[in-house]
Amino acid sequence: MMLEEMELGPVWRLRTRRAGLAQAPETAPALARPAGEAPAPAAPPVAPLVAEEDRAGHIARMDWSGLKQAVAGCTACGLCKTRRNTVFGVGDEQAQWLLVGEAPGAEEDARGEPFVGQAGRLLDNMLAAIDLARGAGVYIANVLKCRPPGNRNPEPGEVARCSPHLHRQIALIRPKLVVAMGRFAAQTLLDTDASIAALRGRTFEYRGVPLVVTYHPAYLLRNLPDKAKAWEDLLFARGVLRGISLQ
Ligand code: URA
Repeated sequence: MMLEEMELGPVWRLRTRRAGLAQAPETAPALARPAGEAPAPAAPPVAPLVAEEDRAGHIARMDWSGLKQAVAGCTACGLCKTRRNTVFGVGDEQAQWLLVGEAPGAEEDARGEPFVGQAGRLLDNMLAAIDLARGAGVYIANVLKCRPPGNRNPEPGEVARCSPHLHRQIALIRPKLVVAMGRFAAQTLLDTDASIAALRGRTFEYRGVPLVVTYHPAYLLRNLPDKAKAWEDLLFARGVLRGISLQ
């Protein structure tokens, strides 16, 4: 039954086996001064890295409503020019499970909700297979809150500018387990270049929270034999969470 929900079919059918900064900080508008008064000396240029740390520190202190507003109005990278909606995240804000994907696609961009397209339907089936559902003990978010045009890969500068929002979401939710789905989520949260294949089947720690890695649902739609591995990963994740709950 569970395998069917994941569209895995019978098990015997298995045949095969950082970050550059995209944009300088916005410059402050020139202040009006009375006629005849000498212009103030130009402010020294702000090092972009320092400004970026300030921005991340500011985001790290936001509450839910401040964070939602910040994402809704974000213009920190070029994706704001092409998005239709920001995609903040959805689910139980006290969830035990936090699932992290990559970035919104076309349908997510149109609706402002993560994983509502084809990959999302697979994700919902995967969750149902382990008796979970979005919103019920589960929160779903992405590394990027805006759609990269044409669903291209996120650029390092976009990840650097957007990921403080995800870090803050995780800090506010305080999940018992993070499931990083796909390379961008895993590499961003673990600060690594390692492949999904190298990261699966192990428990990592993200700022004190156990984290496991699995394939991205969109990848699974293109690579059907790997659904069986994703199933293993989900069972592994559930075991990790049960182990924590027993402690
Ligand atoms: N892929 C993602 O990583 N996130 C979505 O929200 C949709 C597709």
